Amino acid sequence: MAEKRITVPAFAKVNLTLEVLGCRTDGYHALRSIVQQISLFDTVTVARANGFHSNSGFEFDLALKAAQTLANAAGINEGVSIEIVKRIPVGGGLGGGSADAAATLLALNDLWEIGWSREKLAAVAAQIGSDVPALVLGGTVLMQGRGEIVSPLFDQRTQLKEFYLVLVNPGVFCSTKEVYLKCNSRLQEDPRILYNMSSALQSGDEKRIASAMMNDLQISAVKLHPEITAALKALEERGTLGAMMSGSGSTVFGLVSNEAEGRKIADEMRKRGFWAECVHTIVR
Ligand code: C5P
Repeated sequence: MAEKRITVPAFAKVNLTLEVLGCRTDGYHALRSIVQQISLFDTVTVARANGFHSNSGFEFDLALKAAQTLANAAGINEGVSIEIVKRIPVGGGLGGGSADAAATLLALNDLWEIGWSREKLAAVAAQIGSDVPALVLGGTVLMQGRGEIVSPLFDQRTQLKEFYLVLVNPGVFCSTKEVYLKCNSRLQEDPRILYNMSSALQSGDEKRIASAMMNDLQISAVKLHPEITAALKALEERGTLGAMMSGSGSTVFGLVSNEAEGRKIADEMRKRGFWAECVHTIVR
């Protein structure tokens, strides 16, 4: 019998909003973020093996950690080999390592015939990394706590429109830890941030979505890596709707009204020496 292999896409994310609400006693920061899955993806393939192996070469491999954590949680006494084809920039604020971990959980849920819901897998995901639960749920997610409290932002009856984004990476690696260490938490919660983005997403109006984008980590990331400003400026000058950093950086993104325009802008950004892609949002 042929060896069973399961291949799944590991979709990246952008943070449409990211509020830092305070520093917790465990050293993490309390967050509130609207996380949006996007069509840029790595590919993750899992197969049964002796022991746990991955081809990533990363010292801290979140996909490997995901496999070990799921095996423990579900009482599976088997190993696995994981093959990852990388396309998502590393250290770019697009949740690449977390996307690989989330995809590994989903693929192993299938390979090992565990049969857990995404919600149950998201609870396991919280032990792996702060962005992993949101990427297990997928689509448009409200993320709170240090990242472990996740729920779909809209119920299934809400018909969301896909929209296009141009991602631009200035080629610098942002350490999530350093960016959080340098950031200032907001002194007061502002309920309008969440309300404005949710209602903009429901309206499907790209201009409204763009004007509701915000990220409390952008100031500290730009201080550490001034190159991020050049990427933000490049998008602003080219007239994308909004220009904002994702997560702890260094990738920035702007909205466009259609795919053709997005591809053209991404081409121009590559000619200027940036890594760039036109992507669309993933709606569940
Ligand atoms: O959970 P993850 O490994 O992705 O986080 C990396 C680092 O980012 C943490 O060690 C912490 O310093 C910082 N972080 C934080 N607050 C969060 C998420 C991450 O301070 N909510």
